[in-house]
Amino acid sequence: MPAPISPDSTIREIVDAYPGIDRVFGAHGLPCAGCHVSTRETVRQGAGVHNLDMKALLGDLERFAREGTVPAPRRRPASAVPPPERKRKVGISHIVPVMSGKGGVGKSLVTGLLAVALRRRGYDVGILDADITGPSMARLFGVSARPYHGADKKPHPPTSASGISVMSMNLILEQESQAVIWRGPMVSSAIKQFYGDLEWGKIDYLFIDLPPGTSDAPLTVLQSMPVSGAIIVSTPQGLATMIVSKAIKLVQQLNAPIIGIVENMSYFVDPTNGRRLELFGPSKGVQLVVESGAPLLGQLPIDPALTELCDTGRIEEYRSEEYDALARNFIHVLPALATTDKAS
Ligand SMILES: Nc1ncnc2c1ncn2[C@@H]1O[C@H](COP(=O)(O)OP(=O)(O)OP(=O)(O)O)[C@@H](O)[C@H]1O
Ligand SMILES: [Mg+2]
Repeated sequence: MPAPISPDSTIREIVDAYPGIDRVFGAHGLPCAGCHVSTRETVRQGAGVHNLDMKALLGDLERFAREGTVPAPRRRPASAVPPPERKRKVGISHIVPVMSGKGGVGKSLVTGLLAVALRRRGYDVGILDADITGPSMARLFGVSARPYHGADKKPHPPTSASGISVMSMNLILEQESQAVIWRGPMVSSAIKQFYGDLEWGKIDYLFIDLPPGTSDAPLTVLQSMPVSGAIIVSTPQGLATMIVSKAIKLVQQLNAPIIGIVENMSYFVDPTNGRRLELFGPSKGVQLVVESGAPLLGQLPIDPALTELCDTGRIEEYRSEEYDALARNFIHVLPALATTDKAS
């Protein structure tokens, strides 16, 4: 007999005791039932931070426990601003920008790792490096070939060792270290060309690695591409959380869905004694989950083995328990992604 459902049970206890009950949390607009936050958050806390009617939620949870019924989802208010017309591209099914607002938090790394996770599961994956002035994707994947012209006479992006299509500014510069000193409109135009002029072929998931900030590059991507859902990357540092909040607001203002939060550099495990050190302070994941309404997909530790693989272009070889957990949670949210390929 599972434990009774009370306001002080953690969400995870309830989800574990009653398989399928996460749909009841979901119907009430509580997206974190399946994510890390739920291990600590009680029903009372969840209802509080998400501004929910706790009595109604408890009633529906108890009804599910008795009868297995899931209530109809509570409607989200319709957005007043209609989304702008976005150019679809034949063959590309989903577009997933990875952003943060804050520099150096690991956006490119997370973009790479999520792409690798899907590629390992057999999906056709592409990465468009939208960081035109500070590109890093080619380096992470050890790709140096230029885009090539196929039999169709069209330019195609080169592929990584595992077959991920990668396009990055560095792949068309004479030298990797050459500086690209461009103003915003040229950056926007380069991103649009990488997307529109390249022959990507069949891509199930096209990840877009965005530069820090909330200006030209993210605006271009969110306004001109049919984005399925954005991933937000942060670190536990208070400053990062504040700047990441701005990125969340930008995405929300432009009516793009946020599908998950990834917290990077969450801690470091001291190899001499196995102690977990929270170098940037305690996790701020809950705060970002509340702001974005999207689940926390994973918390990655600072891992020197990962730094080494990134520096030597071998990100595709990375494996760890925390990365596995992130990949599993990410796969879990994929069905919620909007499809962008309807017109093709
Ligand atoms: N969890 C981690 N463990 C080890 N090294 C990491 C981790 N996260 C990031 N790094 C290292 O830090 C580097 C910088 O991260 P990354 O380039 O992904 O940040 P970014 O947010 O994309 O930066 P920018 O704002 O400049 O685009 C990575 O190449 C990697 O070497
Ligand atoms: Mg980057």
